[in-house]
Order: sequence, then structure tokens, then C-alpha cells
Amino acid sequence: MKGVILHGGHGTRLRPLTHTGPKQLIPVANKPISQYVLEDLRDSGMQDIAIILGDIMPEKVKNYYGDGSRFGINITYIYQEKPGGIAQAVGLTEDFIKDSAFVVYLGDNLLKGGTSKFVQEFQKKNFDAMIMLCKVENPQQFGVAEFDKNGKLVKLIEKPKKPPSNYALTGVYFFKPAIFKMIKQLKPSWRGELEITEAIQLLIDAGYKVGYKIVEGWWKDTGTVEDIIEANILILDELESKIEGTVEDKTSLQGRVSIGKNAFIKKGALIRGPVIVGENTTIENEVYIGPYTSIGNSVKIKRGEIENSIIMDNCTIEITTKIIDSIIGANSEIITNQKGPKGHRLVVGESSKIVF
Ligand code: TTP
Repeated sequence: MKGVILHGGHGTRLRPLTHTGPKQLIPVANKPISQYVLEDLRDSGMQDIAIILGDIMPEKVKNYYGDGSRFGINITYIYQEKPGGIAQAVGLTEDFIKDSAFVVYLGDNLLKGGTSKFVQEFQKKNFDAMIMLCKVENPQQFGVAEFDKNGKLVKLIEKPKKPPSNYALTGVYFFKPAIFKMIKQLKPSWRGELEITEAIQLLIDAGYKVGYKIVEGWWKDTGTVEDIIEANILILDELESKIEGTVEDKTSLQGRVSIGKNAFIKKGALIRGPVIVGENTTIENEVYIGPYTSIGNSVKIKRGEIENSIIMDNCTIEITTKIIDSIIGANSEIITNQKGPKGHRLVVGESSKIVF
């Protein structure tokens, strides 16, 4: 079985973070979201994985994943020139897939339990396609499944006003090459994209066997800042304590805290986990790092309080207040000198300097 990771898209909802790279490379607990996807596919037994690159700095993705050998897999890169929809991206993989069965995994989706047992299920059953569904409270915002009275999947509806069920389509799809025939018949939808839900509907209508599985545990689509902060919480909830750097005496580490190599936590700092601190990062005395915070590599936290936030690599933070529910892009500097409101919620693009 082969794997396909979608790494393109507009990423409009995540601007300014997506001005300087694709959203799938945004780190959650210090690891790009698409790396969780890639490792999941590898751990499910996939050796050959295609990454579909979009038009937002695709070279960053190639630089990070290379030929895949660092991860124990072979990567093939396929360019999607413009974000013409998930089905268009899948259609570009026909030569790579040949006659294999395959999994399509949206590179910004996270699935707690992983895909391994679903891969086995798909291989065992003789399905032409299989979708993963998750029970949600707000089905209006997703592609939603409709079943007949025997529980058979009969219809997929994009963002329905009156949802026929609470089961939303997640970003993991299992296909056989029959899907390519259907994609070729698609016309752009109202939003100008080739919709994968329509291609699957064509399979259903043509009598192909389309199965479904319900995801247990959580599924997270990280399309917005709030989603990424929440994904960070979900991943840090499973963090294990590990101290590889230096923690001075009289430092308070509470709960689960992971400190990377050559990191330096100075006396008087208070870190209340779950918190991950990357390599070569320095946290000065008097600093407070609160629960559900991920701090990347080579960061300098000189002063202030941070909670429930993601601080990417090479940032410098020197504040007189508190940063909460924030995402700070790599190579940025945040400096405050005045006493302001109690907390700031910031979304800061890469290489920014903010002084107030
Ligand atoms: P979306 O998050 O639905 O779309 P988007 O990236 O265009 O985001 P926004 O609405 O914020 O502008 O895309 C779902 C996933 O599919 C995501 O991982 C990006 C990927 N994708 C592609 O690879 N190619 C495409 O043409 C599209 C539309 C999405």
C-alpha cells in the first residue's frame, strides 16, 4: 500500500503564519504537523509516500523531509501548481500509485489512534474506497455522511445546512485506483475546487464498494489558530517528562516537562507542565512557563510569563506581561517595556519584531 500526504492548500485562515511556509509545517509540541502524519503512515507499513506540494514555499517541505531516508521511507514529490482542491491533488498521483491501494492523508490532520488498524481493515475487506468518520457536534462545518436504515453509506454532503447525521469526514481516505476515473469526471464546485466528496459520491452511485470506519479517540483538523492551539494541548497531554538539558537548583518544574539537549533553565524559573522546551533554549530566572506551552529550539525567554502557546525556533521573548493562547513564528522578537493589560493573545508571523 502507498501513502499520499497533501501539503498544499491556500492556508488563508492561518495567515500571517502561512505567508512564509505551508501550514502543515507549523510545529505542534515541537514537531511539524505533517511529520505526525508521515510517521503514522510509515508506522502503518507504508514505504513509498508521495507528498503533494502546493505553491506556498514548497522548497521548505523538500528541505525538511529530503528523500525520506531520515524517516526510513522513500518520498516522491509531486507539484500541484494551484490549490484546485483535494480531488485535483489526488488526481496528480495516478502515475505514482499505478495499480496499488493507497491512503490519502491531509497533512494538517491529526488522528489520535493512528491509521494502522484501519489500513489492515481496508486490506482485509474488499472495499474500493473507505472513509474515516468522526462524531462531531457541529457537522454543518464539515463533509457529512448520510446512511440508509441498514447503516449503509449512501451520500456525502459538503457543509450541509441540515446535516443528516453527526458523522463528519476526517482527512484520511483509503482508495483503490478506481477513484482516478471518478476524479476525471469532476467539474469545479462553487468554490472552484475539485471536491473529493463528489468523487467518492460518484463511486457510491456507480455501485463501487465504499466502506467507512468511525474514529475512536480524537481527530483534529488544524485549519485555524484555535485548532492548532487545541492540537498542541492534545499532543502535550501525552507528553512524557524528560530532562536532557541543564536545570539549575531552585528551579521549579511541576508536572510533566520535557527539556531538550543543551537547554538551560535558570534558577528561579517556574515551569508548570505539560510543557516542552527545545534544544539550546534558555529560560531565565523569574520566568513563568504555564501549562500547554511548546517552546522550540534556540529560543531565549528573558522575562515574562507564557501559557497555552507555541513559540517557534530562534525567538526572543522579553516581556513585562503575559502571553496566552498565542502562536509566535520562528525568528521573532517580542519585547514589552510597559505594564499593559494582564495578558496578550498574539499570532505573529515568522521573523517579526514586536515592541510595545
Ligand atoms: P483546507 O484546509 O480545506 O483548505 P486550504 O488549505 O485552502 O485552507 P483555507 O481554507 O484556510 O484557505 O485543505 C485541506 C487540506 O488539503 C490541507 O492539508 C491542505 C490540502 N490541500 C491541498 O493539498 N491542495 C488543495 O488544492 C487544497 C484545496 C487543499
